[in-house]
Amino acid sequence: MPPPRALRTHAFEVQDDGAPLVAREREVAAPAAGQLTVRVRASSLNARDLPITTGRYSRPVPPGRVPLSDGAGVVEAVGDGVTRFRTGDRVLSSFHPNWIYGPLPGWNNLYGLQLDGWLTERITVSEQNVVAVPDHLSFEEAATLPCAALTAWSALAGTGAGHTVLLQGSGGVSVFALQFARLFGAQVIVTTSSAEKGARLRELGASTVLDRTRFPDWGKRVRELTDDRGVDLVVEIGGAGTIAQSLTALAYGGRISLVGNLASGEGMDLTRFLQRGATLRTITVGNREDLEQLARTIGLHRLRPVIDRVFPFEQAPLALEYFARRSRVGKVVISH
Ligand SMILES: NC(=O)c1ccc[n+]([C@@H]2O[C@H](COP(=O)([O-])OP(=O)(O)OC[C@H]3O[C@@H](n4cnc5c(N)ncnc54)[C@H](OP(=O)(O)O)[C@@H]3O)[C@@H](O)[C@H]2O)c1
Repeated sequence: MPPPRALRTHAFEVQDDGAPLVAREREVAAPAAGQLTVRVRASSLNARDLPITTGRYSRPVPPGRVPLSDGAGVVEAVGDGVTRFRTGDRVLSSFHPNWIYGPLPGWNNLYGLQLDGWLTERITVSEQNVVAVPDHLSFEEAATLPCAALTAWSALAGTGAGHTVLLQGSGGVSVFALQFARLFGAQVIVTTSSAEKGARLRELGASTVLDRTRFPDWGKRVRELTDDRGVDLVVEIGGAGTIAQSLTALAYGGRISLVGNLASGEGMDLTRFLQRGATLRTITVGNREDLEQLARTIGLHRLRPVIDRVFPFEQAPLALEYFARRSRVGKVVISH
């Protein structure tokens, strides 16, 4: 049999000097056995995409790499032996392509770093690297799930009715965490940076919103608001700069899900964890099995991701500039 023919596609590539993304026509391999080609219809931005596309990532990004881990589209062609999907199926990407279940196999097989990502019209991947899009979601909505939603899902594991959760900010992970916490019956306190964002977070179900610019000591304020009990869980996106406040806010025996490091800061005395009897759990997005369960739950409850703004494919560099400004609540999406 002749080898499958390569297809033409348009994609955005990272440049080696941190210069803005450049659009190019490229070849995408036709699907080999076990692979499928997706006509990508939408992608979404995450915090990691900023350093990856501007030459500031902690690991090398080869010039010419196509960025973005998150995308959704239609299966356009399938290779021999593909059984999970058919042409015409709607699919979304799995953040860790080689992590199906069990423990994390490592951070060495990631879109935008070692693999070309989803800021493209077409991509060919293993059939194991995608999951079905919930029926009620648009491609734009589905493209928000692979990283931020799954991270929030993993961070909240074990949370339910009767729990109080503390979230930080109005970005992709925290807004999904707010939606899931409410779905699970938990009460939510959120810190944010403006009254306008606070109003939106209340609309989305936060019972209390604290302006972190007015209450730099928000940990103490959270204790007051919870009759000195503290919260059961903190989804920690600030990291070094916020974790001391998070520990102050935490109930005895509570848990911190460590997700991000947006707030720079000094180290802290680890005995404070012992004093609180606290558990620190690190989050590494999640595996495909969890993504499938998350997609099923979103489908059952007809939950809709919060999208701040959608940009057309040609304006992907503008979408990244807008994302960097952090004036948004929820996700920034690119429509392909
Ligand atoms: N470990 C993992 O598996 C994983 C997965 C996904 C993301 N992450 C990391 O998690 C973090 C959040 O990701 P994301 O995609 O949600 O980012 P994002 O959408 O860019 O979130 C940014 C928001 O976070 C809030 N924020 C910024 N600086 C803050 C600070 N110093 N203290 C408290 N809040 C602050 C701001 O909201 P307000 O203006 O409302 O305060 C800001 O708009 C990033 O560090 C990212 O790299 C980790």
